[in-house]
Amino acid sequence: MTEYSTTDVLVIGSGIAGLSAALSAAREGADVTLATKATQPKGASSWWAQGGIAVSCDGPDQFKQDIQSASGDTADPAAVQVLVDDANAAVEDILLDTLAVDFDGDRSDPAVKSTQALSDDTPSGFDFGREAAHSESRILHIDASTGKHIHIPYLNYLAGHDAVKIRDDTAALELIRHEGRIHGAILEQDGDFQPCYAGSVVLATGGIGDLYPSSTNPDSSTGDGIAMAALAGAETTDMEYVQFHPTVCTADDAPFLISEAVRGEGALLRNADGVRFMPDYHEAAELAPRDIVARAVQTEREASGEVTLDVSPLDFAGEFPDLVGKCEEHGVDWQDGIPVGPAEHFLCGGVSVDDRGRTSLDRLYAVGECARTGVHGANRLASTSLLEGLVWGLRAGSDAAGRDPVVIEAPELSERDPALPENFAHEKFRRLRRVMDEYVGLERTPEDLQRAISALRRLKGEVDAYTRTRTSRPLYELRSATIVALLVTRQAAQNEQSVGCHYMASDGSPTGSTADD
Ligand code: SIN
Repeated sequence: MTEYSTTDVLVIGSGIAGLSAALSAAREGADVTLATKATQPKGASSWWAQGGIAVSCDGPDQFKQDIQSASGDTADPAAVQVLVDDANAAVEDILLDTLAVDFDGDRSDPAVKSTQALSDDTPSGFDFGREAAHSESRILHIDASTGKHIHIPYLNYLAGHDAVKIRDDTAALELIRHEGRIHGAILEQDGDFQPCYAGSVVLATGGIGDLYPSSTNPDSSTGDGIAMAALAGAETTDMEYVQFHPTVCTADDAPFLISEAVRGEGALLRNADGVRFMPDYHEAAELAPRDIVARAVQTEREASGEVTLDVSPLDFAGEFPDLVGKCEEHGVDWQDGIPVGPAEHFLCGGVSVDDRGRTSLDRLYAVGECARTGVHGANRLASTSLLEGLVWGLRAGSDAAGRDPVVIEAPELSERDPALPENFAHEKFRRLRRVMDEYVGLERTPEDLQRAISALRRLKGEVDAYTRTRTSRPLYELRSATIVALLVTRQAAQNEQSVGCHYMASDGSPTGSTADD
């Protein structure tokens, strides 16, 4: 038998959800292996999170109501209840007590940011931010770089934990499945493949940004966990709800996010004629739900040529020094307005899970962006993704602990043929992104979705032919991306209701050239 490793809990992915699952499994006494493709903290989406993490301020009811409204009333109320019930305790326990994250607040009196502060009826001492579709200021943040201030201490904390072994630059290629139960995964590092047998597996592989030409996700966001789970027979839900962020700076080839917090502080969207347009689209104007703002920005860009974010109503340099730095790095003169457009940001659906992160397959869990908990419905409320990852990560990790690994026969991955032609993955990804951009973007039509399905099926056939005789990380990432693209597109085609991020344009006429030619 090939060499293998064993662990009680195998966590795949190193964002806040994976780290939380690892920590809570370790707290339950499990020994944990955390495998991540990332070679540095920037490889996880959590590192990039700007806005922050929402908590309950004036009691849970208004927070629940805001999540429901932003989702167009499609969020699962039971899941939302779990999120809101656990929010403050999870933030206190992990972010304040364990990691001592120094959220912005009244720095003159650090005592008010004590662990008790969030338990009070009206937490104080923090500089709570506001973002679109939140009816009150409830977002804990550190400037507009909250993600890295949580992610780095979290990684460091776990790196020093006796029960957690972090394997970076290590990709999961395939789950090991036997009679409906998951027993581990085949891991790849430096071109070598080895089974890792686990009592439970927690998928925390993040988003699907690589499926679109422009995304706020880190590179290699190829939906691996969703694809592996789907191939093993797990259920996926709400895959059509791909969220686009409305304000990504379009100044050059390296688009970067301009947090919603900037609009929360008063920034205005203007078209190329200088006209503020959001009041014509929604009564909440710039603070309307994200799907509505994203489509409005796209419409105005198409009509007038450009949309800019006017930051003159606020003290941009004082309040967002990190974004000023980013603008300067990219040569953007923010005082003239920041050119913005929508870009893929977050998948609201994913592998279907319950309130403990359990999938439809025994011993397989999914948390964070790759999971569909029901919290987001058709459109996610800003600054709830770190929170969802934290809450579900903790829940899933403790549930996943307590099982011994079982060593069974693992699937043999093929290495019969030589390495991939150098440009193979690059060229196929280009085609995939073109299909998704043209047919499965902000607006869809039944005809376009059918075109996309045909093109993606052909692409998948070509990729599958290669995976029958070759194994490599880029090839398996491409396989994941094609599988996930098909799941998104098929579920979009099955959903005739235009809601949230799944917007069906009424005009079903062809949209010009075919994406797969
Ligand atoms: C942002 O800062 O605008 C992103 C927040 C989020 O996606 O939740």
